[in-house]
Amino acid sequence: MPIILNGLAIFRREDRGRPPRIAGVVTGPTVLVRLVMRIFEGIEVHPGVRDARDEFEGVMVLTLAERSSLIAPSATLAMAGEAKRLKSEGVDVLDFALGEPDFNTPENIQEAAIRAMKAGHTHYTPPAGIPELKQALAEHYTKKIGLPTQPAQILISNGAKHSIHNALMAVCGPGDEVIIPAPYWVSYADLVKLTGAVPVVVETTEEEGFKLSPEKFLAAVTPRTRLLMINSPSNPTGVVYDRAELEALADAVLTTKAGVLSDEIYEQLTYGDAKPTCFATLRPGLAERTITISGVSKTYAMTGWRIGWAIAPAPVAKFMGDLQSQETSNPCSVSQYAALEAVVGPQDSVRAMLGEFTKRRAYVLERIERLPGVTCVPPGGAFYAFMNVSSHFGRTLGGRKIEDSTSFCVTALASAHVAMVMGSAFGTEGYARLSFATDLKTLERGFDALEGFLKG
Ligand SMILES: Cc1ncc(COP(=O)(O)O)c(C=O)c1O
Repeated sequence: MPIILNGLAIFRREDRGRPPRIAGVVTGPTVLVRLVMRIFEGIEVHPGVRDARDEFEGVMVLTLAERSSLIAPSATLAMAGEAKRLKSEGVDVLDFALGEPDFNTPENIQEAAIRAMKAGHTHYTPPAGIPELKQALAEHYTKKIGLPTQPAQILISNGAKHSIHNALMAVCGPGDEVIIPAPYWVSYADLVKLTGAVPVVVETTEEEGFKLSPEKFLAAVTPRTRLLMINSPSNPTGVVYDRAELEALADAVLTTKAGVLSDEIYEQLTYGDAKPTCFATLRPGLAERTITISGVSKTYAMTGWRIGWAIAPAPVAKFMGDLQSQETSNPCSVSQYAALEAVVGPQDSVRAMLGEFTKRRAYVLERIERLPGVTCVPPGGAFYAFMNVSSHFGRTLGGRKIEDSTSFCVTALASAHVAMVMGSAFGTEGYARLSFATDLKTLERGFDALEGFLKG
């Protein structure tokens, strides 16, 4: 019987007076625990394991390691899961919670996967990835991105998230600090904590365009700083740093001993004048201290295939490969051949998807303008609008008092059936993230519902 040492145990109401079955367990920041408590209103929640243990007198209690208190389930997935649950009950949910393209993986990539299976590429591969994909990426980065790269510097993983985990495990440990500008992608802080290092969150504001300045970075640096994590284009804000801003940050980094993890997963999804910049290329000496992260999930609508990569100094890449060999052996063989086709094959489907995202972004910005009391820094990339909804805090909407971004998003879902993710999950209170990786018709219905919700 699973039970936890830290956090909350959830029991089913119908088990009252009988040996209880645990329906779920919640650990992590208060915000998330409160979210789960609100979502599962029909379920009894017991705070603290001591209470739970009292209830369990005579029942064997298997405790989790201390590490379990470091990890919270992804709030994005929690909101998406709740949206899915409502859908399964027949509710017409307008789902803008999850960050994945709604397009199917392009045909040529699917065909490549089928060919790979038929050719017998269904076995273990080298732990750090197939040589063909590493070679293709080395050429891509060297020739197209301007980052001279050898195959030995590349690690192919089960998604970019796995590459980030491996990178953090390779360079961070107890006592180290990792600087993370907020708003940040939900997983960064927890992945850092898993290594024993401490996330040092540096707030950026809407007025600053949600960009970390060299001054703020330098103010956060201590002798224990191991890494700065940056993400441009950003999830959740869509903000894209321009080259000069990144150069200024790079110059500041070079005055310290900090390394950089540059998450460039949305590099091919930028709009208008916004241009992606590969951080490691900006100054001599940066590549030696930077780990670049990317992958096929977002650009090629391949979230389910689970292929991402890291480009790092060769000794770091070697350790990440060794680590991966013990953790997962290798990324899925068939998916690697599909990713190879994605990287070297025709790119017209990428252009077509970007065209669609461009139209949706324009529509979303036009509709946000019309939402009462809502502002938004126009996203230069990715497919998110990070909306400032704080002017509605203190109001009663959908029959509930709105106190914060969690109550805003939970109530918008319950009452208007619009699923978004609360800003607090990204380290910034006052906002709601809306993903526009959804067709225009659904966006139109979603904004109609949201507008009605906000008008009370
Ligand atoms: C900023 C950022 N980095 C990394 C990832 C993980 O990508 P993957 O699905 O390839 O693991 C995501 C996915 O949402 C993301 O938004």
